[in-house]
Amino acid sequence: PSITFVHPDGRAQRIDASNGESAMQAATRQDVNGILAECGGSAMCATCHVYVDEDWLARLPAMGDDEDALLDGAAAERQANSRLSCQIQLGADLDGLVLRLPDRQT
Ligand code: FES
Repeated sequence: PSITFVHPDGRAQRIDASNGESAMQAATRQDVNGILAECGGSAMCATCHVYVDEDWLARLPAMGDDEDALLDGAAAERQANSRLSCQIQLGADLDGLVLRLPDRQT
């Protein structure tokens, strides 16, 4: 699948991802600035926070309790469409996914 990250300045960065990797893994592998992922994807740091484009929100699996709790401590304001990108598993069903980056992760 290919997914797009939209930076706080409005710049869109489209990257190719592999089936089964997380949006965070795809982003860090391809140097998308704005995803820090300090815990490496263990749902422990909240520095992979993203805002999911509204069109895609309902297509993502529901978040787990760990993710929900961590998002409360994210550096940037939590919004209704906030998710942790390390918990978004990519597959063909999410081809074209659009994720917006918050203005800070720490
Ligand atoms: Fe740490 Fe996602 S990488 S919570």
